[in-house]
Parts: sequence; structure tokens; C-alpha cells
Amino acid sequence: MKIVSIVGARPQFIKAAMVSRALRARPGVREVLVHTGQHYDDALSGVFFEDLALPEPDHRLGIGSASHGVQTGQMIEAIERVLLDERPDWVLVYGDTNSTLAGALAAVKLLIPVAHVEAGLRSFNRAMPEEINRVLADHASDLLFAPTEAAAVNLRREGLPEERIRLVGDVMYDAARHFAGRAERSDVLGKLGLARGTYVLATVHRAENTDNETRLRSIFDGLRSVAARTPVVMPLHPRTREALARLGAMKGDTGNLRLLDPVRYLDMLLLERNARLIITDSGGAQKEAFFFRVPCMTLREETEWVELVELGWNRLVPPGDAGSIAGAVEGALMHPPKGREADGLYGGGRAAEILVEILVEGAG
Ligand code: UD1
Ligand code: UDP
Repeated sequence: MKIVSIVGARPQFIKAAMVSRALRARPGVREVLVHTGQHYDDALSGVFFEDLALPEPDHRLGIGSASHGVQTGQMIEAIERVLLDERPDWVLVYGDTNSTLAGALAAVKLLIPVAHVEAGLRSFNRAMPEEINRVLADHASDLLFAPTEAAAVNLRREGLPEERIRLVGDVMYDAARHFAGRAERSDVLGKLGLARGTYVLATVHRAENTDNETRLRSIFDGLRSVAARTPVVMPLHPRTREALARLGAMKGDTGNLRLLDPVRYLDMLLLERNARLIITDSGGAQKEAFFFRVPCMTLREETEWVELVELGWNRLVPPGDAGSIAGAVEGALMHPPKGREADGLYGGGRAAEILVEILVEGAG
């Protein structure tokens, strides 16, 4: 059996890592790994292949950054060529990026079965590029691997047939569990001079925050004001670095708000695990905060990981103005919210093995 896995952006390398291991452990299965090139900086791509011990991609499409239409279109064209050449039994796509949509569309048009890992997540905000990518990828897929109960419910509500939907758990939970021990060997805290439990970790990269000057300014000023009392470390996605530079925010001393280059996966896990609070708009970081039972604030109006808000581990803080962000953070630092526990929210750490079993042993 031949399976083509399509990845291209940072979170997809993480999602694919455990699945790739599980596929390669099965006799008679050959995985062909395709890297679209959506992320190409070493700090967003190469270091993840090293940390996660991902195999060298069989095909590097080298598409790079462009407008949505150009980027997605070029990916579809290049992926189609690979699929015609490889003739796989299945195509696996991950998450909600333009690489996900391109992979699903290229495969479905060639009548190659598609399996979507992390299916069914919804923000119900069609202004997000990710929401369009998810909905279309799900409706083009033959197998929908839902990470949560809420995701499975969303798929049913959209009329997707029950036999396609499989609740398997979250492959990012598998990865965090698998790599947490190794992350303890990271020297990132020492290098940054950070003591465990004393700092706030922040990441921001979502288009709705970086491409809106008012929101980005509020986030930056809000975090600066928090940093006057508690150190804030912020690994910057290149998109955010560029947007902050446009605002003139990269000039001068940002004091205790420490703007870093993106960090590698193992460093990130250690930074997350030892943070007092995580402030983010990242999907992955919201869950990792919970995996390590660190309180989280999400700088958005809505989230796809609704269960964490319901249980009290995550709080939505729409970035209206700097004062409200700083106020919410100060409040959480003084009275750390403690969420309720729930068993198996994201599966048992074997989502990748379970989904590979379903894929290989027959989807029927
Ligand atoms: C993409 C995904 C988003 C995901 C994120 C993970 C889409 C529509 N968005 O957003 O869902 O959460 O990846 O990190 O697919 N850039 C670099 N170096 C790189 C890659 C990008 O400098 O290696 C810069 C370029 O200026 C580029 C910008 O970042 O224009 C945005 O990159 P892009 O891949 O289009 O979207 P992300 O914001 O990374
Ligand atoms: N991440 C990382 N280094 C960073 C920022 C994030 O390793 O500097 C990891 C993070 O731990 C999580 C994943 O990248 O596993 C999340 O990716 P991102 O925030 O880019 O995308 P999203 O999850 O929002 O799609």
C-alpha cells in the first residue's frame, strides 16, 4: 500500500511526525512524503525535521510564499504531477493550511481517496483562510479523522456520512507526550536566563491579528505593559516580525518583552511547560498549554478547541485594546485560573497508531 502524505507548514510537520512513524512501522506500507515548501525558513521547517526525526521528503515542491490563489494554485499543479507519477492508494492531508486544501483538491480530482487528519474543526468564522481550507478539505475527503468529540459533531451537522467519520484523538497530543521527555534536555531556559514558572510565553501569527494594525498594536502594547512586571518571551513568526516592523515596533528597546526568532519544537515544549501563562492565537499552542496544565489566553473572538474554554483552561480575550489585554493577563497572573479535569479529551496518546490502523486495515 502506498500513501502520499502532504505537509508544508510548521504545525503539519508536528502532526505528520507520529503518523509517519506509525506508517513506516507497518510492513507492506510505503509512505511518500511531499513537502510543498509553504514554509521554507530553516526555523519553520528544517529544524522540525531534525527535532521530530521526520524522514527527508521524497518530493520538495518549493512553492514558497505568495497570495492565496497563486500559492494554492501552484501547489495543486505540482501535487497533481506527483500523484500522477506515484499513483498512491491514499493521500493524507493535515490541518487547515493552503497545503491541506491543495493536497485534498489535487487528489480528489484524480479520484484518489483522501484522508484528513484533524478533520471537523470549526471556528464558524468564514473570514479566516483556515476555515475555508478546513471545510473544503473535509468535504473532499473519504476519511475524516476527528481529534475531538466536538469536531465529530461538526462533521455530522454538515451532513458528512457517518462511515467516513472516525474519532481518533489528537496527533499533536501524541507528539507532545512522545517528545516531552526529550524536551527536558533543551537548554533554552538557561540560554534565555529564565527560571521555571516565572515568565509569560506569547505567540501571535494569525492573519486576523497580524494584518490588522489596530489589533497588532493593542497586542504589542498590552504585552509590553505586562512585561513591565513579568517577563514575556515571544518567539516571532516571520509574518509577525514583518508586521511589527511595519508598525515601527521592532525599533528600540522592548525591555522585558523579549522578541525572539521562532524556536524549535523541543525548545517550545519546554518553554510552554514552564510558563506561568501562555498567551497565543495558535491552535497548537492552546492545546499544548492544556497538555502541560498551564493556563492559556487566546487572543481571538473564537476558537476551534471549544472544550478547553468550557473546562476553564483557556480564556478568549479578543484583542480590543492594550488595556483590556494587560488587565486580563494581570488578573490571570494574580489568580491563576484552574480548569476542570476531563479524561481523554484528546485521546490516549495513540491517535496516530489508531488512524494508521484504520487506513491500512480498511476504511470500510
Ligand atoms: C500558515 C497557515 C496557518 C498556520 C501557519 C502555521 C495558511 C493560509 N495559513 O500561515 O493556518 O497556522 O501557517 O505557522 O495556510 N514566511 C517566511 N518564511 C517562511 C514562510 C513564510 O518569511 O518560511 C513569511 C512570508 O512573508 C509569508 C508569510 O510569512 O508571506 C506568511 O506565510 P504563509 O505560509 O502564507 O502563512 P502563515 O502566516 O505562515
Ligand atoms: N511552535 C514552535 N516554535 C515556535 C512557535 C510554535 O515549535 O516558535 C510549535 C508549537 O509548539 C505548536 C506548533 O508550532 O506545536 C503550532 O504551530 P503554529 O502556531 O505555527 O500554527 P497553528 O497551530 O496555529 O496552526
